[in-house]
Amino acid sequence: MHRFISHVSVSAGLALVCAGTNFLHAQPAPAPVLRIDAGKVTAMASPALFGLMTEEINYSYEGGLYGELIRNRSFKSSATEPKFWTAAGGAAITLDTGTPLNGALNLSLKVDASQASPAAPAGVANAGYWGIPARPRTKYRASFYARAAEGFHGPITAAILGPDGKTALAKAGISGLTTEWKKYEVTLKTKNAQPSKDNTFAITTTVPGTIWLQQVSLFPPTFHDRPNGNRPDIMELLGGLNPKFLRFPGGNYLEGNTIETRFNWKNAIGDPARRPGHRDDGWGYWSTDGLGLLEFLDWCEDLKMQPVLAIYAGYSMRQQHVEPGPDLQPYVQDGLDEIEYVTGDASTTWGARRAKDGHPAPFPLRYVEIGNEDFFDRSRSYDGRFAQFYDAIKAKYPSLQIIATDRIHSRAPDLQDEHYYRSQEQMESHAHDYDKYSRTNHTKIFCGEWATRVGSPTPNMAGALGDAAWMTGMERNSDLVVMSCYAPLFVNVSPGAMQWKTDLIGYDALNSYGSPAYYAQKMFSTHHGDEILDTSSENIPAFHWQPPANRRRNGADSQPPPAEDVPALFFDATRDSHNGLIYLKIVNSRGEAQPVRIALSGVSKIAAKGKSTTLKAASPDDTNSINDPKKIIPVTETIEGLAADFTRTFPAYSITVLEIKTGN
Ligand code: AHR
Repeated sequence: MHRFISHVSVSAGLALVCAGTNFLHAQPAPAPVLRIDAGKVTAMASPALFGLMTEEINYSYEGGLYGELIRNRSFKSSATEPKFWTAAGGAAITLDTGTPLNGALNLSLKVDASQASPAAPAGVANAGYWGIPARPRTKYRASFYARAAEGFHGPITAAILGPDGKTALAKAGISGLTTEWKKYEVTLKTKNAQPSKDNTFAITTTVPGTIWLQQVSLFPPTFHDRPNGNRPDIMELLGGLNPKFLRFPGGNYLEGNTIETRFNWKNAIGDPARRPGHRDDGWGYWSTDGLGLLEFLDWCEDLKMQPVLAIYAGYSMRQQHVEPGPDLQPYVQDGLDEIEYVTGDASTTWGARRAKDGHPAPFPLRYVEIGNEDFFDRSRSYDGRFAQFYDAIKAKYPSLQIIATDRIHSRAPDLQDEHYYRSQEQMESHAHDYDKYSRTNHTKIFCGEWATRVGSPTPNMAGALGDAAWMTGMERNSDLVVMSCYAPLFVNVSPGAMQWKTDLIGYDALNSYGSPAYYAQKMFSTHHGDEILDTSSENIPAFHWQPPANRRRNGADSQPPPAEDVPALFFDATRDSHNGLIYLKIVNSRGEAQPVRIALSGVSKIAAKGKSTTLKAASPDDTNSINDPKKIIPVTETIEGLAADFTRTFPAYSITVLEIKTGN
C-alpha cells in the first residue's frame, strides 16, 4: 500500500522538499500545480517513440498472430511421436523418417487406415492451439501434401469437426491420391453455427488404405488476405497502437540457447514447406518458421511500421559465443546478406531472392540491432563482436543506424538498447531517470524492452499506471529516447501456453483483448505531439517506499537499498506544431481523486472547450481478460473551462490525456 507523505517538486530533475520525512497528511495537502510553458519548446519529440517488440514466446506467432491453425503441421515438434495429433476411427499413426517430403521436412506422418469403412471413417485429427476456431459462414483454406500406398486413391475427407469429434462444421472431399507426393488444397466453408473453438481438424477416409501426410495446414481468412498471413483481430489491435516500428525477431528467440537453435533467417524464407523449422528452446517449443523474415517485413508493411532488424551476433544464451575475428566472419556475412535481402534491389543476390519470394520492391530499413542482451555474455566478447559487425555494416550501408545491446567502448553505437522489467513502484521511482541523462553523447536510447510486471497473464491497472508513469519520462525525453517498445507483446491465455507473465495483448483460439496497459500505451501513442514543452511542478504528492533487496547469485539477499520518497503524480506535455493542440498527460497513481491546478503560459489563445480521455479503475488490481475484455478502456469526453489557469480533478488510479487547443 502506498503511504503518502509531504510533497515534492519536479522540474528537470526530482527535488524533494521534505526529504526523509514520513508523515501522513495531518492537514489538507496543498493542491499540486503543473506548469506548462508553451512558449518554450525544450526539444523535438521523436516521431518513432512508440513501436512494437516481438518474438516467438507465449505462443506469439504459432498459436497467436500467425494464421496457421494446425499445431505441429510438419510433425517435427517431437522426434519420437506425432505430438498434438490423434488417431481417429481405429487408424494407426506413426512418424516415418523413411518417407520424407523433402530435405527440410525430412519425415512424414504415416496413417494406416486399413480398418476404415463407411460406418467407421479412420484417419487423424489435430486440436490446434487449444482448439480450432470456427466462425459462421467463413472460408478456411486447408492444404496438405499426401502420398498413398499402391492401390489407394481415396477419397479422403478434410473437415473441421465440432466438439463431439463427429459433426462436420465444414468439409471437402479429395480423391486421386497416388504413390507420389502432391499438394492438395480445398476450401472448407462453415454454415450458420455460433463461433466456437473446441473443435478439431481431421483427415479421414472410409476406404481402407495407407497414406502419408506432411505440411498439413489450415488457415482462416487473414489480414489483407495475405497467403501465409496473420490473424485479423490481433493485427487490428496492433494497428490501434499506431506503432512506428517493429523490433524483431527477438529477444531470446534471436539468440536461441545454442548457436544451432538461433533464429537462422536463411532457414525462414521461401516456400514454407521447405523451411525446416527449429526448436525455440529459449521458450520451450517448436517453431515451423512459417512466420519468417519476409512475413515479418510484410507485417511491417501492413501496419506501416519500419523494421528494426535484430541480427544474430554470435552469442547464444547457454554461454556459447563465437570469438571476434575469422570465426565470426560467416555470421557477419549472414547479417550483411540479411540486410541485402531486406533492402537490395533485384540486381543483388539476396534482393533477387526476396523478389523471387514474392516481394520485388526493397523494404526501407534504418535500424539494425546487433544481438540481444549481450550483457549476459560472460566471455565479455561483445565489444569485439559488435565492432566487427559495426565496421562491416557501416562500410556497406553507411546510413544505417546501429544499435548496441551492451556498453561498448571501441565504437560509438548510434543507439543503446536498454531493458527494464520492474514493479509499479520501481517504474514510478525511475520515471525521472531520463531527465538526468547527458545530452552530449552521440548515442541515443532505444528502450527496446520494458514493462511494469504486475498482473498475469496480462497487466492489471497497477501495471498500466507504472507504464504510464514511465512513458511520461520517455516522452518528455524523446529527443534522447528516440524509440521504445513494451515486451512481451503477446500471450496465448490458454492453460499452459504462457512462459512469461505480464504481456500486453492476450488471446485464445477465437478471441483477443488489450490489457489496461495496452490502452494506456494507445492513449500515449495516438496523442503524441512533435514538440516537447517545458514543464515544472509544485506540491507533487509522494509515498514512502522501501525498495526490495537484490537477490544475489548464491540466493542470499543483499543489504536493502535506502528507502525513497516516490512521486505519485506524473505528467508531460507535447504539442502538435501544425495545429497548436497540446497533449497533457497526467497519471494519478493514488487511490484518491486528485485536484490539480494547471498553469499554462506562453500562448495567447486557449480554447475553453477541449477533450479529456481517461483510463481508470476502482482498484489497481482490476484488469481486462479474455472473458471481460473491455472492463477498463479509455473514455473520451468534451470538457469546458480550459484556461491559462484552471483546476481539474483527476480520478483515483487514472491516466488522462487532456487535449487543449491553443494559438498565438
Ligand atoms: O521479453 C522476454 C525476454 O526478456 C526477452 O526474450 C529477452 O530479451 C529479455 O530477457
